[in-house]
Order: sequence, then structure tokens, then C-alpha cells
Amino acid sequence: MKELFRIAIDSVKEKESQVFCAEGHSVVVHKEEDVYYAFENSCPHKQMELHEGQIKNGVITCPWHRFRYDLQSGLSLTNKQSELKIYRIQAEAEQLVVYG
Ligand code: FES
Repeated sequence: MKELFRIAIDSVKEKESQVFCAEGHSVVVHKEEDVYYAFENSCPHKQMELHEGQIKNGVITCPWHRFRYDLQSGLSLTNKQSELKIYRIQAEAEQLVVYG
């Protein structure tokens, strides 16, 4: 697994989603309850952007057709055959490192 990008840890605010593009990947980074998530900015259902989806208790709801995805596993709670790509995200000193 290789490093895709790094960002300052304090640039990610609680309950805010930000999109980062690196090496052909469009990745949403989100922080909720001091947990950081990184996931593909594309809903597996119809490949619409996910970054405006509502996130609660580690589950995102797609704003387009309301599919829900667990942000730890990527598994859909709506359609078992649908899986969101999750990226590994890790805190290192004052930075967050996203691997793809
Ligand atoms: S594009 Fe996300 S649920 Fe349809």
C-alpha cells in the first residue's frame, strides 16, 4: 500500500468533509468524534460524488439516492452488493497520511 498524500492534522475539522485529489484518486477525508475517515468520492451505486453526504455514527448517506455505507468497512447497509472504497488513514505526528 503506498502513500497517496499527507495533510496537516489540524486542517481537518470535526464534522467537515474535504476532497483531495492525488494520483487519479478523489478522496474524501472526514473527522467525526475524533475518528478520521478516508473514502472514495464516488458512490458505487451510480458513481455520483459523495462528499456532500451526511455522516453520522460512522455511516454516510449518499445525497443522491440515500444508499448508506459503513465508513470503516465500506459495506453498504442498503444494498449488500455495493461496496464503497475505503482508504487507510493514519495519524503521524502532526499529519494525516492517506494510503491507497
Ligand atoms: S448515486 Fe449514491 S445512492 Fe445512487
